Amino acid sequence: GNSLTHELLQIHEEACQLYHHILVNTEVGSEALAYLKQRGLTEEQILEQEIGYAPNERNLLKQVLENKGMSQQGLVESGLMIETKTGELFDRFFNRIIFPIRNDQGKPIAFSGRLFDQQVADKRAPKYLNSPETKLFNKRQVLYNFSYARAHARKLNDLFLFEGFMDVLAANRANVLAGVASMGTSLTNEQIQKIAKIVDQVTICYDGDQAGIEATKRSLETFQTQTKLKVNVLRLPEKLDPDDYIKKYGETAFYELATHHKETAMNFWLFYYELDKNLTNELDQLQYIDEVLTELAKLNSVIEREMYLKQLADRFHLSIESLQETLQQKKQALR
Ligand code: GTP
Ligand code: MN
Ligand code: MN
Ligand code: MN
Ligand code: MN
Repeated sequence: GNSLTHELLQIHEEACQLYHHILVNTEVGSEALAYLKQRGLTEEQILEQEIGYAPNERNLLKQVLENKGMSQQGLVESGLMIETKTGELFDRFFNRIIFPIRNDQGKPIAFSGRLFDQQVADKRAPKYLNSPETKLFNKRQVLYNFSYARAHARKLNDLFLFEGFMDVLAANRANVLAGVASMGTSLTNEQIQKIAKIVDQVTICYDGDQAGIEATKRSLETFQTQTKLKVNVLRLPEKLDPDDYIKKYGETAFYELATHHKETAMNFWLFYYELDKNLTNELDQLQYIDEVLTELAKLNSVIEREMYLKQLADRFHLSIESLQETLQQKKQALR
């Protein structure tokens, strides 16, 4: 790449090392380190991921980068500074735990900074603060942990999509190593393209709360435009996210769930369309059957279609033939 790109990579490497050093080797970082350990992160993970801490100062990174001879343009375009109206630069990240965001080669290209729980509760600033888009960092392209997960995903021919960084890291401790997260945004076509290059299957494992269920629905819809990938879902109970689940039930339980308790996308739809209905009511029944058949019409596998048609027929005491006929009409409408 050109020299600005090179400098921006250098700036991120320096910043990553500085924040990491402060977290693991200094008194200033000790509260953050204790917090991360209390959340279950291992020493090994903190070192491997080079997790860091940006202390409560606004000139620290700026000074360090200037002393290393980085240019003003580099500082500004790194996204790691905030520029005032008068052109003065201040560190963007302060008093936050720092998660490096890496490119496909594993080089840091952005950061996400998390506040301590007390400050989250005070609601004076967002829980997570991400780097802005830069020449290095395109949010639509990046998946957190992709550079680590890629080889495991290839071997497994599956990739787990989580909502959060802490979920990726918790899953890792449970030996679910093929896990990534988007940057707190919806899954993009660019990310799906990237995933499709390495696996034939993915597993959506978002938080078990309402927001996670809605996000699962949206991601499934985005995947539907990408026919090649088989998409499964790992739904978590009690509104837990993977990190919470592992804390509550343990690593082995999560590994077991991730290995043997995934469901098909179709099974997720059966669950999803039932959420807002009372299926003892015939109007709700009719609407449910219609919504489910609409999803069934999009399925390519004949066997899977037949399996769910039979379930539906049994459940609502209908003939396979009438369901089949409606399904054919829906399939024709799709063409
Ligand atoms: P923990 O509270 O540390 O366990 O994080 P979490 O991952 O469980 O957070 P949550 O489920 O609330 O959000 C999921 C993901 O959305 C996070 O990992 C972030 O990437 C993103 N996110 C959450 N809160 C914010 C925010 O305030 N700002 C931005 N930009 N992203 C956020
Ligand atoms: Mn490094
Ligand atoms: Mn959530
Ligand atoms: Mn969560
Ligand atoms: Mn969480």
